[in-house]
Amino acid sequence: MYTALYRKWRPMTFDDVVSQPHITATLSRQVAEGKTAHAYLFTGSRGTGKTTCARILAKAVNCLHPKDGKPCLECEICREADLGTLSDIIEIDGASNTGVEDIRELRDSAVYTPERCRYKVYIIDEVHMISPSAFNALLKIMEEPPEHVKFILATTEVHKVPATVISRCQRFDFRRIREEDIVDRLMYIAGCEKIKLERDAAALIARLSDGAMRDALSLLDQCVAFSDRIDRETVSNAAGIAGREYLFDILEAVADNDTPRAMTVTDELYAKSKDMSRLCDELLMQMRNLMLIKTVPGKPELISCLDNEAERLKSICERLSLGDILSRLEVLQSCAEALPRAVSKRTELEMALVKLCNPPVSGGYSSDSSALEKRIEKLESELAKLKSGAVPTEKPQKKPAPAESEPTQTASAPQSEFTAKETSDKLEPCRRWEEILDRLTVENPGCAGALNGSEAYVSGEMMYIVVKNEFFLGLFKKPENAASLKKAALDVTGINYSIRAKCSKSEQNGSNGGKSPVDELIEKAKSADIPVDVE
Ligand SMILES: Nc1ncnc2c1ncn2[C@@H]1O[C@H](COP(=O)(O)OP(=O)(O)O)[C@@H](O)[C@H]1O
Ligand SMILES: [Mg+2]
Ligand SMILES: [Zn+2]
Repeated sequence: MYTALYRKWRPMTFDDVVSQPHITATLSRQVAEGKTAHAYLFTGSRGTGKTTCARILAKAVNCLHPKDGKPCLECEICREADLGTLSDIIEIDGASNTGVEDIRELRDSAVYTPERCRYKVYIIDEVHMISPSAFNALLKIMEEPPEHVKFILATTEVHKVPATVISRCQRFDFRRIREEDIVDRLMYIAGCEKIKLERDAAALIARLSDGAMRDALSLLDQCVAFSDRIDRETVSNAAGIAGREYLFDILEAVADNDTPRAMTVTDELYAKSKDMSRLCDELLMQMRNLMLIKTVPGKPELISCLDNEAERLKSICERLSLGDILSRLEVLQSCAEALPRAVSKRTELEMALVKLCNPPVSGGYSSDSSALEKRIEKLESELAKLKSGAVPTEKPQKKPAPAESEPTQTASAPQSEFTAKETSDKLEPCRRWEEILDRLTVENPGCAGALNGSEAYVSGEMMYIVVKNEFFLGLFKKPENAASLKKAALDVTGINYSIRAKCSKSEQNGSNGGKSPVDELIEKAKSADIPVDVE
């Protein structure tokens, strides 16, 4: 039977534990001097050696012939402990649902003296997962621990452990394993296992495993499955990072505010059953890389990507300000948080992409007005195109257009349609909309709050508001809301606008036919059907 490398190569003694010298030195000194604590808390990210060190410490305090505080690995206690057959070393998995029961049992059994060892050692792994009642039970014993009992609690999420428990433990924080240490350990293990591993390849594995030795060894296992000679290419294939151009396609689309392109790439990935959460994580990781390139350009080692990807990232980075990057990181972070609960993961990610490609007017973190300027520029050019008829806003016309007889009409179809309906002036974004909303906040904060994130377009004395969803349209059923908005607009602009509202929800027709959101909004505004006017 094949044993996974990470299990097979679990260090048996402190000397084989890498990258945690502060911990292994302290623990072996305590054992050597007979000054061990009643309870320990091992914290730190996964795969850094918490469980491993807990087991080594449990052996060390019980070993019959410890050397400098390290287990001898030869006595019967050490050997049985390594086989997992020693009844005095008890491992409880907090993540399993038997937590409470196990700990009740522990309370009852802890009072009995150990069978063969000096100390009964309880290792409670993933201790943050145990229930509040289990914590209480645990606390009771920890308050007055019998002389012959030791606790080793391990957790990746120390903030979920009650302070009352933490305060009774000696705490050790496990660091992420340094890349060089991962490389050395990988090369050593590969040597023993007769795996031909290139150092370059080991370095890439180390980079990709983000400080977790377990992940590094699992990835090495995967590489072995690919080929018996492991180079960088094997690693990037095994890790599934080969051919991830799509990530950079999306990031470039984001930098260019090109929603249709970002959507198209995502759509293709979705069609290939790409996991949307994974895609979001990957985008997040690359956006983080962009932030690092921007802020600490002299530290390429902080960036996790392939060499050829670094160049492309740099060029994307040049197109974005730090503010642009930070506000997009926020969008991706909240998308990653929302995804597990989302009814439609695809929609959730698409919403994030629309936000990424259409940065908010107020620009999030960005202190400059570049987001606003870009947005206005974009709207202006879209509108110019609209006016010239270059971009038809309607999908294929249902009625056969009388093109031959009236060529000029057809060429400027969107505009003329609009003209016929409402006004002869061109439709443009209302540049003082934010100001109007500010003004409205004073008189009618509820209404202003609800209109946050909506857009307004003006044309002559008409104002079209595109609100986020149907719910907000209900706002204007109340005449006082409509009246106060009208007044705010008048106060700010001096124009007594006729106001109409429409919601921007566009789920009805599913596909957007390649139109940009701006096109869609303008279209919506044009067909605005809720008159807000009170007269
Ligand atoms: N510091 C380390 N030195 C050497 N190997 C390690 C180290 N940390 C983890 N490993 C490897 O990863 C595997 C999992 O480690 P483990 O101690 O279970 O991690 P944790 O409990 O922190 O999640 C071990 O079996 C071992 O192969
Ligand atoms: Mg563990
Ligand atoms: Zn021993």
